[in-house]
Amino acid sequence: MRKLVLGVAALCLTGMAAMAADDPIAIRKHIMDSVGAAAGLSGGMMKGEVPYSPAAGKSAIATMVAASAAYGSFFPEGTDKGDTTASPKIWEDAAGFQKALDKFAADAGSAMAASGKDGPADLDAFKAAMGPVFDNCKACHEAYRVKK
Ligand code: HEC
Repeated sequence: MRKLVLGVAALCLTGMAAMAADDPIAIRKHIMDSVGAAAGLSGGMMKGEVPYSPAAGKSAIATMVAASAAYGSFFPEGTDKGDTTASPKIWEDAAGFQKALDKFAADAGSAMAASGKDGPADLDAFKAAMGPVFDNCKACHEAYRVKK
């Protein structure tokens, strides 16, 4: 039984690796879509279109943390071609892209640290925590994304 479970687990992992190897562009787009959705929720709360909730604030921040940690794994050589808006600069200036990713991850991590167990207590606390995370979107897109 134990062998079977391990076997299935190994299969799942292999499956995930195969998916990553087969279509890293699709995966990185999905990750950015989740970032976009979390940004949409955050923006809605900041503008007062959606009532603020500490749990929702924390979930948006957690999405940023997860995305910024995983995102850099889906840019293997050769994936500048295809259905993508990733700029060739990502590969030409890999160190600069990594730096942009690190900053995104650091700002998301600080927001998480500031949000406490139940999430930022009120909208002002949420804005203070999430504001610096949002600065990363435009900065990285301008440098490492092409307009199509
Ligand atoms: C470190 C760089 C970086 C940061 C930071 C970043 N992005 Fe992106 N984003 C990209 C790149 C590169 C693409 C293009 C990926 C592709 O087409 O393969 C992209 C694409 C997107 C897309 C389109 C996804 C799709 O389906 O084509 C959305 C939406 C998006 N980003 C939202 C955001 C938001 C909102 C933030 C800030 C909270 C953000 N991004 C921060 C690099 C970044």
